[in-house]
Amino acid sequence: PRRTRVHHLLEWKREGRRWPMLTAYDVYTAEIFDDAGIPVLLVGDSAGNNVFGHRNTIPVTVDELLPLTRAVVRGATNALVVADLPFGTYQISPAQALETAFRFMKEADAHAVKLEGGARFAPQIEALAGSGIPVMSHLGFTPQSEHALGGFRIQGRGDAADRLVEDALAMQEAGAFAVVLEMVPADVAKRVTAELTVPTIGIGAGPDCDAQVLVWPDMAGLNRGRVPKFVRRYADVGAVLHDAASRFAEDVRGGEYPADEHSYS
Ligand code: KIV
Ligand code: NA
Repeated sequence: PRRTRVHHLLEWKREGRRWPMLTAYDVYTAEIFDDAGIPVLLVGDSAGNNVFGHRNTIPVTVDELLPLTRAVVRGATNALVVADLPFGTYQISPAQALETAFRFMKEADAHAVKLEGGARFAPQIEALAGSGIPVMSHLGFTPQSEHALGGFRIQGRGDAADRLVEDALAMQEAGAFAVVLEMVPADVAKRVTAELTVPTIGIGAGPDCDAQVLVWPDMAGLNRGRVPKFVRRYADVGAVLHDAASRFAEDVRGGEYPADEHSYS
């Protein structure tokens, strides 16, 4: 095993090797996912929902994500760790994007950053890439724009397909090393994947992307609420934890825990 680098992702695309990405928000999950062979970990602003209990990613701040990023970097021996730039911390100008990204690189040792939005944000991508910061683009359904997009809706249908392809090409041209495609019709994601030399990472974007990403509490069932149609549930961690907590409570109430072997003489 070795540290995943941006150039590996480009090699894998050329070789036609697909790869997985997961979110991580703390040291244990970072260690476990790294050990399981996940080469890229995303400290997503989905921490807004999955760590902080917000309804969406909009309220998430840099100060909230920095310590989570630091923890994931500490836990990840081999994975490339990407940090999301929160809403409102890069849209104003390339200079603002640089200032925010520098914080993730210097204060949390992030290996790369990600930002949402199309061609309008090419100057931000260019400023980051030109300053030695690997930057990932996020197109299609971009959760930070939920209110402008009118809720959780598929993007890139019909006439919007050409726009999506143009946006993806603009991001690549500006220096993005990969492009996330969220909730995009499978045939459109396939088209984008064929047009780009940098990898596409799908989430609700069909089987033809170069990589796939999922939000870990969704895929592992820590989130016990409703999950989108594109999620496959690989575990029921929520039920496992519920059972552990219930049995602990029962043992304490019944005087079954601690036992002799847990006690010091
Ligand atoms: O924040 C996040 O988890 C993401 C992924 C869905 C790509 O941006
Ligand atoms: Na995100």
